[in-house]
Amino acid sequence: MKPVKIGLIGLGTVGSSVFNLLKSNGAEIERRVGCQLLVSHVGARRDNPACDLEGVKVSRNVLDVLDDPDLDIIVELIGGTTLAKDIVLTAIQRGKHVVTANKALIAECGQEIFLAAQKQGVSVAYEAAVAGGIPVIKAIREGLAGNHIEWLAGIINGTGNFILTEMRDKGAAFDDVLKQAQELGYAEADPTFDVEGIDAAHKLTILASIAYGIPLQFAKAYTEGIAEIELADVHYAEQFGYRIKHLGISRRTENGVELRVHPTLIPESCLIANVDGVMNSVLVQADAVGPTLYYGAGAGGNATASAVIADLADIGRSIGADATSRVPALGFQPDAMSDQCILSMDEVETAYYLRLSAHDHPGVLADVTQILSKRGISIEAMLQKEVSDPQHDLVPIILLTQRIKEKEMNAAIAEIEALDSITDKVVRIRLEHLDAQTA
Ligand code: HSE
Repeated sequence: MKPVKIGLIGLGTVGSSVFNLLKSNGAEIERRVGCQLLVSHVGARRDNPACDLEGVKVSRNVLDVLDDPDLDIIVELIGGTTLAKDIVLTAIQRGKHVVTANKALIAECGQEIFLAAQKQGVSVAYEAAVAGGIPVIKAIREGLAGNHIEWLAGIINGTGNFILTEMRDKGAAFDDVLKQAQELGYAEADPTFDVEGIDAAHKLTILASIAYGIPLQFAKAYTEGIAEIELADVHYAEQFGYRIKHLGISRRTENGVELRVHPTLIPESCLIANVDGVMNSVLVQADAVGPTLYYGAGAGGNATASAVIADLADIGRSIGADATSRVPALGFQPDAMSDQCILSMDEVETAYYLRLSAHDHPGVLADVTQILSKRGISIEAMLQKEVSDPQHDLVPIILLTQRIKEKEMNAAIAEIEALDSITDKVVRIRLEHLDAQTA
């Protein structure tokens, strides 16, 4: 069979790995696909010394790749949502299939892109956009097609997980670890996307859509980053048998879909609590199969290239097939999407870890517990440490609560903070048991 011709746009960490892996594993890939996957045109503003581009057409103006009539597939690996969007939409208009690793583009503009692709009868594949090398899109979209998916929770930002792990294990400073993640090619061009949870929210938006067949709604995702996490809370959490992880959580409830990214206490006995460093993991609770867990490298050139090439292989095999016989972009038929709403955080129910800084006076705890009980908030466990600041008689009080709606907890925290005996803002971290019943 004649080769499938690929235009590769972007030759950074992921682009260069795709180029080199297609060469080094080319024979094996050809045996799987039934034809060669050939990068015949590269669009990159500058060369990457890691790639031998001899015999390959190279365009410095990346848009010129789109004018090449010989190409079957365009691979977009430049990131962002401006030029990348133009490239993808133009490629589709010209009848090319598209492969991208761009989670921001899919989460924010996916609806428009998939509609355009559907009209043109081409595929847009994005396995590499979520959890790097883990084939989690394929697993959910195809492997779990027989299930009603109830909830999913994931460590889906390698940089954030790397930072939390190094802080916990080595007491390393936040900025130093972030710099290391940037040098290793894990972090986004703008690393605040990693640290503030935006990158994870992009990925969670995509996972929720393919899990429940709902439109992509990134703007409605709740996002809270890791910059506020203090080492003290990491250690208190450990004393109760929990770890703090930055999780993306989505749960389907009767009233709507939860879509939230925030630091979360999870029991250290959960497998996912032991996912460290740049590794990613996604736990999916589905009705027929029960819980399934996906684990692997969530960032880095070769891991992400592995997912890009899997998409190229899928498209390579299906070239010539009728568009209707392909897997729909979001796994559900476009005219059968659900209009279930995304819940506001006020309506989300979770358990909580609270840390209060209180004067060591009689009655302080009674005041706090009264506020909680008035709002139906039940205390699961409590720890009061000895006076931490002898000059000011301040004691840290740590409480774990049972599940309650976020609006009740917000109101209780406001009342607690208004007590004269409470000196600082209450530290609040959500807590999930991740068992079969609850997220
Ligand atoms: N910056 C991302 C991460 C890369 O750290 O997970 C993969 O999307």
